[in-house]
Amino acid sequence: MPIPPFFSLREPRVPKRRHKAPRIIAVANQKGGVGKTTTAINLGASLAKAGAHTLLIDLDPQGNASTGLGFTPKDRALSVHEVMSKKTNLQEAIQKSPLDNLYLLPSSEQLSSADIALVNEERRLFFLADALSDTEVNRINVSYILIDCPPSLNILTLNAMVASSSILAPLQAEFFALEGLAQLIGSMRQVRSVANPLLHLEGVLLTMIDRRNNLSRQVERDARQNLQQLVFDTVIPRTVKLSEAPSHGLPALLYAQNSKGSVAYKNLAEEMLGRNTQNGGR
Ligand SMILES: Nc1ncnc2c1ncn2[C@@H]1O[C@H](COP(=O)(O)OP(=O)(O)OP(=O)(O)O)[C@@H](O)[C@H]1O
Ligand SMILES: [Mg+2]
Repeated sequence: MPIPPFFSLREPRVPKRRHKAPRIIAVANQKGGVGKTTTAINLGASLAKAGAHTLLIDLDPQGNASTGLGFTPKDRALSVHEVMSKKTNLQEAIQKSPLDNLYLLPSSEQLSSADIALVNEERRLFFLADALSDTEVNRINVSYILIDCPPSLNILTLNAMVASSSILAPLQAEFFALEGLAQLIGSMRQVRSVANPLLHLEGVLLTMIDRRNNLSRQVERDARQNLQQLVFDTVIPRTVKLSEAPSHGLPALLYAQNSKGSVAYKNLAEEMLGRNTQNGGR
């Protein structure tokens, strides 16, 4: 695969990042509409409900995670854009969400020009990592930071990968899903070699699963065969309540607490917390 133009041998390395708590997880897949935002919101909500203080960073200029938590564009005076451009700091810019323990760093439309603005900067891959330095993050006392990435392997997504300890990749059960995942893993390896040696795949999450559907079953079987324990046991079913909740500005567990979708994301949070305990908190 060709190396994206954002990489260069002059890129400074950041081995000093230690990846202690909080865990920073990029929810990423360059394919559009696969459930990144739905996962970021509802996994974030489930972690928060389980008592883990969680920050959701909306790194997508579309701002779906911000809207989905009830933040209209006028509520977003301070956004991840101002934090990345050092006009403010993390602590100043984060906002409480409708759910206790869940915080949001909103997106702004200006992020869409960040790609072009950053491209000639020496530290173009490191703006988010710098904004999430240990000093900045220690001020806000959270255990998890989830980053909702845009549907592209652009400079914003690469910033997320450089700032994160791991990547959670939602995979929609459809024909070309695994090819797209190979490309994502290729980019992860490049980021690991030039900028963030500790980056790893947290897991692949099968989304919008309908086990009555042959294709859905086949994609699930192929994914589990190829990626084995990297695929979360929990799968997210296709369910209308998950698609309705954002229009009410709520995570599913506040909109329809006992719905299948809400329970699935609660199970995902438990599976992730369980895996992290087994790995000694890594
Ligand atoms: N499990 C699900 N069941 C039903 N609908 C879902 C489910 N997950 C997501 N959706 C719906 O599918 C659409 C795409 O989901 P989402 O916005 O989470 O994807 P995305 O990967 O963030 O998209 P983008 O790439 O545009 O950022 C949305 O309308 C969402 O409400
Ligand atoms: Mg999205």
